[in-house]
Amino acid sequence: MGQSYFIRQMRAQQKWRLEDSINLLPSENVTSPQVRALLSSDFGHRYTLPINAEYSGEFLENCYRGTRITTEIEAAAEKLACEVFQARHACVQPLSGHIAAMIAIVSVTKRGGRICSIPVKFGGYDGYEQPYIPDMLGLKASSLSFDVDNFTVNAVRASDQIRKSKPNLVILGASFIPFPYEMGPIRDACEDVESVLAYDGSHVLGLIAGGAFQRPLEEGARILYGSTHKSFFGPQGGLIVTSDDRIGNSVKENLTWRVVDNVHWNRVAALGQALFESKKFGRQYAKQVVKNSKTLGSELSQRGFPLMFEGLGFTESHQLIIDQKGIASKYGMTMNDFSVRLERSNLITDSVGRLGTSEITRMGMKEKDIPELADLFAEAAEGRTVRKKVRDLRGRFDMDYTLQ
Ligand SMILES: Cc1ncc(COP(=O)(O)O)c(C=O)c1O
Repeated sequence: MGQSYFIRQMRAQQKWRLEDSINLLPSENVTSPQVRALLSSDFGHRYTLPINAEYSGEFLENCYRGTRITTEIEAAAEKLACEVFQARHACVQPLSGHIAAMIAIVSVTKRGGRICSIPVKFGGYDGYEQPYIPDMLGLKASSLSFDVDNFTVNAVRASDQIRKSKPNLVILGASFIPFPYEMGPIRDACEDVESVLAYDGSHVLGLIAGGAFQRPLEEGARILYGSTHKSFFGPQGGLIVTSDDRIGNSVKENLTWRVVDNVHWNRVAALGQALFESKKFGRQYAKQVVKNSKTLGSELSQRGFPLMFEGLGFTESHQLIIDQKGIASKYGMTMNDFSVRLERSNLITDSVGRLGTSEITRMGMKEKDIPELADLFAEAAEGRTVRKKVRDLRGRFDMDYTLQ
């Protein structure tokens, strides 16, 4: 019997994205063989529903039998998350970063409340503006003051704004996040007016875990959450951590039958494994991600490629921000057309102007490998097809930082 369409497509996808191309998307990463094994394991077939509720006059802790191991892995993954992020409570149930954001927001706000976040026009997350999460949860949204030149929140102005407008929740973190935020003044303002300060670490979670970016919980955030598959090398999903007991309990109360029902236990097991790996080599990896993005920034810039923030060292995270006006004047095309041009050479980027180094670092690239990548990138940018050279370079790397 021949292979099904989907199995054939899986093989084509794996060949293209794992063997033939180099991924510079800041939102993606690759996982270890162990994480992948857990994702396709029996955990993915199972239910467990801890309810602590009365059913037909009987008090039940779980609707299902056969859950001994799934219950244990959730507790073990939570414990590891607390260790990695130095928190007192962790929730590994969110199915994605977006769902983690919804759980976090619903846990610290009430209908009619107000939230404040990084403006979308400067790379903030779309979900925090109308008509998305705020409309769903009956909240009013506004933007924090932003320092465009340094591409970070304007901490002084934002704290004045917080003291005046007294929002219930302030969210730092964004989809474009090359630099950390100065959190001190914002934390003080939030404390003064009893706003909860939250940090969406979707993009930088792997760097936070590895101590190579800021440490939001130590710097004043009362809750940290985000995707587990961007700079953090876990399965696609979400995670919430906090050291605030009241918020930790509220998060638990907002899970079953509010934002989740069954949980994807294969993902939870895989996340536990990724957290375990992060404890073992997360620091080395995170440091290398930042070194690689800084090196890629200067190597591309030396080849005349237009990037933002040269004066600031290009980046302190896994992200480089492309100068889109520069793309228009140098190559005479939009960012979207430019990303299509790169894709023809099997260099995978986004069409909104970011490059990311998480996956190439996970593949094992170090600073010494970056000039060759920058050469290929510069050639592809000019419109020459370098697909074969990209495949050859990709073929020299496999998966670094694995446990033996
Ligand atoms: C800052 C930020 N928060 C939340 C999300 C949503 O994460 P997910 O795609 O895991 O749902 C994203 C997605 O890119 C993001 O950039």
